[in-house]
Amino acid sequence: MFEKLTTAHELFIFKLGSALSMEQDSLQMLEDLTSRAQRVELKELLEEHTAETRQQLANLQRAFELLGEDIDDSPSPTTAGLAKEGKTTLRKTIPQLADQVILAGALETEHYEIAVYETLVAAALAEGRTELVSIFEQNLGQEKAAAEKLRAASREVAAQGPVHSPEDETI
Ligand SMILES: [Fe+2]
Repeated sequence: MFEKLTTAHELFIFKLGSALSMEQDSLQMLEDLTSRAQRVELKELLEEHTAETRQQLANLQRAFELLGEDIDDSPSPTTAGLAKEGKTTLRKTIPQLADQVILAGALETEHYEIAVYETLVAAALAEGRTELVSIFEQNLGQEKAAAEKLRAASREVAAQGPVHSPEDETI
């Protein structure tokens, strides 16, 4: 990768590489969170976005090809940090509250991803690369839709409170 970024195009490629790392982290995080989710609906929502994330990774790899650049990832400490924060919080939280922790982590990540794609769309527009604009807009649209679903779910789950375990019902 670049020693020093000296042109807007190099910065674009570097940020594209960060987006690739971001989605790789996101995929790992989604798989971890899905296994910890308590509600079936939340598991399904996370699985749906896991499939979209795989497609987004393929889109980013395609963008590298269209740019004639080797597929390369750049650091993405933000998503690595969000994943770590989610894991740490889950460790110190009772399972009945896990869904709230998961939704917070997923929603925080989605909003970060939206910002990353907004920047990539702007860079592709500036270079007049319409095929890349549509690739990034496809990812952006999925992130926005996912954030919307997660926002609705987080309000619902927060209003419901902790998940009741079967033992609670017999008391
Ligand atoms: Fe996402």
